[in-house]
Amino acid sequence: DWTMGAYREEAVRMIREQVGDAKVICALSGGVDSSVAAALIHEAVGDQLTCVFVDHGLLRLNEAEEVVGMFRDHMNLHVIHAQEQDLFLGALEGVSDPETKRKTIGRLFIDVFQKYADGIEGARFLAQGTLYPDVIESVSFAGGPSVTIKSHHNVGGLPEKMGLKLVEPLRELFKDEVRALGRELGLPAHFIGRHPFPGPGLAIRCPGEITRAKLDILRKADAVYIDQIRRHGLYDEIWQAFVAILPVRTVGVMGDGRTYDYACALRAVTSVDGMTADYYPFSHDFLSETATRIINEVKGINRVTYDITSKPPGTIEWE
Ligand code: XMP
Repeated sequence: DWTMGAYREEAVRMIREQVGDAKVICALSGGVDSSVAAALIHEAVGDQLTCVFVDHGLLRLNEAEEVVGMFRDHMNLHVIHAQEQDLFLGALEGVSDPETKRKTIGRLFIDVFQKYADGIEGARFLAQGTLYPDVIESVSFAGGPSVTIKSHHNVGGLPEKMGLKLVEPLRELFKDEVRALGRELGLPAHFIGRHPFPGPGLAIRCPGEITRAKLDILRKADAVYIDQIRRHGLYDEIWQAFVAILPVRTVGVMGDGRTYDYACALRAVTSVDGMTADYYPFSHDFLSETATRIINEVKGINRVTYDITSKPPGTIEWE
């Protein structure tokens, strides 16, 4: 892509000029924005960049290993894998209110990031994958939904508190341009095309109290569902797809016995920007094959439902 090739060179030049020989830190979430920002800054200043990947124990199956592995081994970035599952899951014990979950996770995220950043001697810059729409929205709809959505990712207020300056090399780009730049920088296509994943992660796909046992079941069911979607060639038609584990157990039959296990809901929507969404019209064959696979392959789930609510009136996530 000619345009992105030129943008890349110009951005690299500007990052070098801004950063000089100082150190840069970056909160890597595995999302497209922070990943492309990290790859670009790494190209500009190499080992002066350190990324912190905060593992809150609310990630999908094998997600931390895949993201950290890709950036370390494939892209050669310096990545700290902050294993803070116990801290987050401990603080979330007994919490079932959705906003309390989000606030708890957001607060701890900042604490953890700051702790690791403090350990990086001489860091003077904080890299963020802020896009052009984020810049516009935070100006014109301050406090509105888009700001709330991003609130977990941008470590708001932290840069000043830590005396850090911001490096935001994607500020002029829209999402599709960021994807093009990511491809240009050599990030794998499957990685760039990944569905969005919320900062609070599986916490908001586990309505009610979060337990490790429920999270394990949820991770397995979600992996089977996404595998089904990929196998049927539907992944790229869908904006977001995931499983929610419901806070209810129901009776089922398996062989000669009865089971008493969790019910889950499958969610899949099409959308342009996440603000409105339609549920995805899977075929009945797809749905029954997927339900059968989940029940056979995931111990702990004996009932599968499909969420056919659009947004509005529903939200995409369950919390
Ligand atoms: P809803 O559920 O509000 O989701 O229809 C719209 C989009 O935003 C994502 N989302 C979040 N992202 N922190 C995030 O980083 C959050 O607290 C959060 N809540 C929702 C959701 O996954 C969807 O893409």
